[in-house]
Amino acid sequence: MEYIQIRMIRPDLRNVPACPLPEGFAIRMYRDGDADAWVRIWRQSDTYLKDISPALFQKEFGRDLPSMPRRCMFLVCPDGREIGTITAWRRASHGRPWGLLHWLAIVPEFQGRGLSRPMVAALLERLRALGHRRALLLTQTVRLAAIRTYLRFGFRPEVAGDEDRRAWSLVREVVSHPALDAALA
Ligand SMILES: CC(C)(COP(=O)(O)OP(=O)(O)OC[C@H]1O[C@@H](n2cnc3c(N)ncnc32)[C@H](O)[C@@H]1OP(=O)(O)O)[C@@H](O)C(=O)NCCC(=O)NCCS
Repeated sequence: MEYIQIRMIRPDLRNVPACPLPEGFAIRMYRDGDADAWVRIWRQSDTYLKDISPALFQKEFGRDLPSMPRRCMFLVCPDGREIGTITAWRRASHGRPWGLLHWLAIVPEFQGRGLSRPMVAALLERLRALGHRRALLLTQTVRLAAIRTYLRFGFRPEVAGDEDRRAWSLVREVVSHPALDAALA
């Protein structure tokens, strides 16, 4: 699969499917010093980015660290380790403010169990609690497990031109979902 940047949008934050955590798991908010846990989780989880470091964390979140305890979440497994992260960030796009689903990852040991679902549900509720009215995310064509999860939670492909159309057509070859057919019709 070619690595192409794509975007998905959820035009509103209504009707977020409820998705409880499995027993023993918890979601907690960011605390001072959690940059190390964030870097560890992303280093273990991702096979595409080469420069996952405290500097990357700083580049992504350093301009507003005080908001991290309200915006960045960790998934904690029954033995107390942080094994996933997701951030309810924000971005201006199309001349409007958007809640941004940012930097979702789960370490490989805990992948394949659908644990991203309660994280995305919690993220959407958090965005709503923070006053956002719509959500946006950036991802890449290769991230099929993420794309499937986002589709399940009502995110829809943004097809703004020929390159988007080509990228989403590649995704549709391996992921079947009515929203992809609709976006490419
Ligand atoms: C994205 C991520 C958090 C998802 O973790 P997860 O919840 O364990 O995901 P799962 O393995 O349960 O897969 C979710 C869905 O994708 C499907 N899926 C998994 N791998 C797939 C693949 N290679 N091709 C197609 N579908 C796939 C699963 O069958 C599941 O489908 P379902 O919702 O219909 O049941 C995890 O893969 C990850 O951390 N990846 C690295 C970082 C990353 O890519 N983050 C996203 C940034 S935008």
